[in-house]
Amino acid sequence: MSTFAFNFLDSDSTEKDTSTLPTPTTPIVPPVLYSPPTNPLNYPSTPLLAYPSISLTHSSTISSLPSTHDLVPGFEGGHKTWESSVDLLDVLGDCKGGTILELGCGTSLPTLYLLQKNPTSTATVIDYNLPVIQTTTFPNFHTNRLSSHVKFYSGDWNGLTDVGVGEFDVVIASETVYTVEKTQESLELVRRHLKKGGVGYVAGKRFYFGCGGGMGLFKELIDGEEFEWEVKEFDNGKSNVRDIVIMRRRK
Ligand SMILES: C[S@@+](CC[C@H](N)C(=O)[O-])C[C@H]1O[C@@H](n2cnc3c(N)ncnc32)[C@H](O)[C@@H]1O
Repeated sequence: MSTFAFNFLDSDSTEKDTSTLPTPTTPIVPPVLYSPPTNPLNYPSTPLLAYPSISLTHSSTISSLPSTHDLVPGFEGGHKTWESSVDLLDVLGDCKGGTILELGCGTSLPTLYLLQKNPTSTATVIDYNLPVIQTTTFPNFHTNRLSSHVKFYSGDWNGLTDVGVGEFDVVIASETVYTVEKTQESLELVRRHLKKGGVGYVAGKRFYFGCGGGMGLFKELIDGEEFEWEVKEFDNGKSNVRDIVIMRRRK
């Protein structure tokens, strides 16, 4: 963890009755493949933020742009790096990479890390908001010389299959479980897009107070026959307890 550095653009940055969970919604905005600029924008070529310098204090904001245009209700937050993305770096050291899908990617810190560590890996990332992809996700990969390894989609993750996005060796979802519906969708998307033998990493707060979702519910929903899974807990005694579920697909 101590030897890598990322170049980031500087910026601001109960119990449940599972039988009543809503079924995933139809895509509101179908996923669209983003075409990065052929003549890359005037992004800084020197690191503005070297990763070790941010010290792993699990600050909720590491890098982001002023968030004025990702405020579609229910789809907020992609311009900053959330705590669970940082937690993931503690466990992804064991991941061999391969083909990677990151859902609700935002700044995409976990996939940046995996690509930097496993240079032959490739990734597909999706965030609902096109401005997030344009001004945060793509620039982060571009500045780290990794954008050629990545396909960028904006739109609803529920529609990925409709646009031909299939199965992956690794599926990552960080802080995508912040409502009951999104918790259910996150699990369904891992089921849909993870190859047999592949590994999913789903990370988030155990409870999103007032929202109903969280890793507590996610753990209740996993089918142990379909996945072999384990949990890594992150509790610093200050902020919300967070979990990472590492799940290997059995069948
Ligand atoms: C709390 S942010 C987390 C961002 C990033 N994964 C992180 O941990 O820093 C949740 C992200 O999920 C995205 N998101 C939520 N619902 C989505 C959907 N249906 N399709 C695609 N992205 C979605 C939002 O746009 C937002 O960027």
